[in-house]
Amino acid sequence: MMDRKVLDEFNAQINEEAFSAYLYLAMAAWFESVNLPGFAKWMRVQSQEETAHAMKFFSFIVERGGKVALKAIAQPTAKWKTPLEAFKAALAHEEHITARIGTLMDLSIAVKDHASASFLKWFVDEQVEEEAHADSIVQKLVLAGDSTGALFMLDRELGARS
Ligand code: FEO
Repeated sequence: MMDRKVLDEFNAQINEEAFSAYLYLAMAAWFESVNLPGFAKWMRVQSQEETAHAMKFFSFIVERGGKVALKAIAQPTAKWKTPLEAFKAALAHEEHITARIGTLMDLSIAVKDHASASFLKWFVDEQVEEEAHADSIVQKLVLAGDSTGALFMLDRELGARS
């Protein structure tokens, strides 16, 4: 049986991951609207990954005999000024998620819930990748500057994500 506080935080994390999926879907829609289909594809795939993250928490709660409690998903931002601004927002969001995973890990350790701590280890590692991916695209966009050619090349590169 899961500790009550851990269960509540795990349920809250389903919401965080579902919101992440929604946020990246909003970014995909925005990139489509500004004719950057490669960036949009990258965001669509990212959104699917976030849904998979939410489902990992969902399945873990069920497996531990806890009750899944779904809350309303907040409306994400729908517009960004530039691709760089959107990816900076994505990176800031991933930093927020990393902090959330840290909080969940600290709580699991505090109540000696080793199963939850072991489960969270995957997310600790995943967040290193999530931040690195977003940051590398931020850096490429900074390098691209005002070059439309560089932006279109990056759009082709990101569109290859599957
Ligand atoms: Fe589920 Fe992008 O962290």
